[in-house]
Amino acid sequence: MSALESNTRGAWNSKLGFILAAAGSAVGLGNIWRFPTEVASNGGAAFLIIYLLCCFLVGFPVMMAELSIGRRTRKNPVGAFRALSDNKLYPLIGMWGVLCGVMILSFYLVVAGWTVSYIFEELFFFMGMPEWSTYIADTGNGVINAVFAVLFMGATISIVVGGVSEGIERATKLLMPLLILILVGMIIYSLTQPGSGVGLSEYLNPDFSQITPGLVFAAMGQAFFSLSLGMGALITYGSYLDRKENIPEAAAYVTFADVGIAFLAGLLIMPAMYMAQAKGVPIFDESGNLIAGVALIFQVLPELFHSMGGMLGLFFGVMFFALLSMAALTSTISLLEVPVSYAIDEHKITRKKASFVVGGSILIISLIISFNTSLIGTIDLIFSQVGLPLGGILICLFLGYVWKTENALEEMDSGYPGIGNSLLAKVWRFLIMIFCPLVILYNLLSTLFFD
Ligand code: PHE
Repeated sequence: MSALESNTRGAWNSKLGFILAAAGSAVGLGNIWRFPTEVASNGGAAFLIIYLLCCFLVGFPVMMAELSIGRRTRKNPVGAFRALSDNKLYPLIGMWGVLCGVMILSFYLVVAGWTVSYIFEELFFFMGMPEWSTYIADTGNGVINAVFAVLFMGATISIVVGGVSEGIERATKLLMPLLILILVGMIIYSLTQPGSGVGLSEYLNPDFSQITPGLVFAAMGQAFFSLSLGMGALITYGSYLDRKENIPEAAAYVTFADVGIAFLAGLLIMPAMYMAQAKGVPIFDESGNLIAGVALIFQVLPELFHSMGGMLGLFFGVMFFALLSMAALTSTISLLEVPVSYAIDEHKITRKKASFVVGGSILIISLIISFNTSLIGTIDLIFSQVGLPLGGILICLFLGYVWKTENALEEMDSGYPGIGNSLLAKVWRFLIMIFCPLVILYNLLSTLFFD
């Protein structure tokens, strides 16, 4: 990239900076809130195995596709599809991605706001975490949700305004190592506590009878959500990537980091549930299923921290929610960066203006959700569970049949000389052109229409 280009469009300072930023986008509430929840409600390790297959056989090739589209065009998702074909329809794939990003961010902010509210509760409100969870679960407390969503958007905008290397890269370089430290520290503590062994075996013993089309659908949606795929977040991050970087290698690092952290989060949360049970906290609902969803993180764990008592409970409570907030922040940054880069490129406005206007507009949707939290499930289903895999199919088909895999491989060649003749290229071509679109499509159709 020429110096001029990098000045005007922004670029990552270092390979590590890019990997941490992309891993920061991937690692988020999806890993620590959604993944353990899905595991708990879908037969433990059976879900884990299907999830890993989705990440490596579908997620990883799609990530290579997004990064190469971004780096070749150096554009936001809409501009990228426009740059690679004359047909006016293809930029709609990018538009769909931007829309999914906007809608995902709007509910993500509310959940991220909750995580921050628990830190405030512990440090300033002294209501007690369990009481706090009842308090905010009551939709009458939309004002609380709204205040923390505004706070979280403020933090996100303040980083995105700073730009690619000074804002995003700098923040994620600090936040990601801190996150790993807290996570590992908490796992070590939780594994030494009574009751954790049961949770561990629930997590790691697969119950294959639970594998149904519904489970595969959940695993696929989770893989796309967790790896930040299907909406062009990695097209955007790839557009700031230097040509000498090795795309398959970078994609592999990001995939492993994301899957690794999800796995670690499971190691923390599944044992923690049974620890909570050993301390007398109910962890099964009326129909005998493990408590999942929002309640797992925002009700069961607070009960656990509370039952630890005193400073210990306070320490772990604050640490856990700080971990969750940091993970969420590096993801909201990338969710906002997609529509912001679109506004900068396509509407020729400054980064500062784009960040405030786009961020402010998304916040309005978040405020509506704050007062109607039951909307979260529906928006999540349409724009992440279905929207992201759908975006994934379109990206694969576009790359495979319109832009063509040869061109993408040529783009990757600059950081991975000779990739075109490698086995990886042959496997990747098959995955992108045939395997991924068919598997995702079959999965979507079978669950939505026949399950
Ligand atoms: N990957 C993020 C998470 O797991 C969410 C996300 C989805 C971020 C799509 C960007 C794009 O929390």
